[in-house]
Amino acid sequence: MAVIAWKTVYETGIVALDNEHRQLIDQINRLYEALRDKRSDEVLTDILAMLQNYTVDHFAHEEKLMAAYGFSGLEDHRRHHGELIVAIEELKKNASADTGSLAAALLKLLRTWVLEHIVEVDKRYGVFLESRAGRFVT
Ligand SMILES: [Fe+2]
Repeated sequence: MAVIAWKTVYETGIVALDNEHRQLIDQINRLYEALRDKRSDEVLTDILAMLQNYTVDHFAHEEKLMAAYGFSGLEDHRRHHGELIVAIEELKKNASADTGSLAAALLKLLRTWVLEHIVEVDKRYGVFLESRAGRFVT
């Protein structure tokens, strides 16, 4: 595992949403570096709080744009978002008092999310929205 460098393969083509994805990747890297330096207890609470807001605000933003332009994959996409929210909740619930293992499990979950959700699922609305609304839609 290493820090995630932003790659063009992560781009949906929608600038505002790509910027939000970059913020998530920044937090994943922050978590990775903290774990590597054995100081995950310093950042974990903060990152979990950020994720609480991020999942609500970012997912709502994506879903609002998909709905506004009539994207047919909206319901399926909404289900994927719900799955991450549940997975984070489960992780918090099942976590032992050991901050390091919770941080490691969260890192694994978020990295998988970036690779599977952003690269695969978000790409689908990217092409659609760009053709309907342009890349600077907000
Ligand atoms: Fe999404």
